[in-house]
Amino acid sequence: MKINILAIESSCDETSAAVISDGKILNNIIATQSVHEKYGGVVPELASRAHQQHLIPVINEAILTSGIDKKELSAVAFTRGPGLMGSLMVGVSFAKSFAYALGIPLIDVNHMQAHILAHFIEDPKPNFPFICLTVSGGHTQLVLVKDYLDMSVIGETTDDAVGEAFDKTAKLLGLPYPGGPLIDRYAKEGDPSAFQFPISDIPGLNFSFSGIKTAVLYFLRDNLKNSPNFIEENLKDICASVQFTLIKMLMLKLKKAAKEYKINNIAIAGGVSANSGLRKELKDLASKHGWNVFIPKFEYCTDNAAMIAMAAHFKFLKGDFCGLDVTPEARMKF
Ligand code: KG4
Ligand code: ZN
Repeated sequence: MKINILAIESSCDETSAAVISDGKILNNIIATQSVHEKYGGVVPELASRAHQQHLIPVINEAILTSGIDKKELSAVAFTRGPGLMGSLMVGVSFAKSFAYALGIPLIDVNHMQAHILAHFIEDPKPNFPFICLTVSGGHTQLVLVKDYLDMSVIGETTDDAVGEAFDKTAKLLGLPYPGGPLIDRYAKEGDPSAFQFPISDIPGLNFSFSGIKTAVLYFLRDNLKNSPNFIEENLKDICASVQFTLIKMLMLKLKKAAKEYKINNIAIAGGVSANSGLRKELKDLASKHGWNVFIPKFEYCTDNAAMIAMAAHFKFLKGDFCGLDVTPEARMKF
């Protein structure tokens, strides 16, 4: 009998469902919530309501397009955390009821672990051990990955996530949420050395991104005083310069981690790994340092249920299930 798992992701502002059969992803349905755009960030209450609205249609589509009948499902998986409590509760409650109704096991998945396991959806797959730089709107972590379900955080941000730094900069520039992809787009046509922003380097393998937000704020305030059209006239150069600085801070610690742990298998994961500047810099570093670099396909970088399904598959093989009394964990650790 095949191992068929329905997986649900609802940790932030994407409602997603995917079906995996014997380790092969059959689909990855995602409903994006546009309701947050006008607020310049995710509004938790609105996110929960949108999940309530989108979840069943998204799941229906995932089941229908998989060609697998509900009765052929071996397990139901869901994101337990980390994430927004209200959003997580929608997915967890549905998953529990569905598993209970079908009499099949329930699998709880750590969202950050799933971002990393997205690398095992398609070839080329990284060899163990590898170091993964997980960069998203809520997290920035350096993870030592020894096996599918054996990972430890060796460095992380002490304040903002790098995705937050992208999004907050974008907001200061008057760009809509989420601003990360827009900064990426404008940066392509700008000069990264046009403006200088401070590179924060705190001890060890940890990161700090809160300084750059303040630096951009003061930089814009000072320049707007003399030239009211400063942003419009310099948008591409500002985007390129900020992006250059953020990537530099990430690469500084990644290089340090690779050296310290003597590992040359390097992966990136999470929403910010969609950034074209980061992808290019990583490829350049790979040829310079002899790294084997692994970058997931674009659709598996940002939040999606396919990565939850992949993680669930490995947990299923280990018989690692959870009880129907499971609750979401907004600050879930590995
Ligand atoms: O992993 P993800 O989809 O959700 C979280 O778990 O946070 O990451 C979303 C983050 C947002 O901050 C978004 O602006 C950023 O990823 N992002 C990007 C790009 N695409 C998404 N940041 C920079 N460049 C991009 N191309
Ligand atoms: Zn994520």
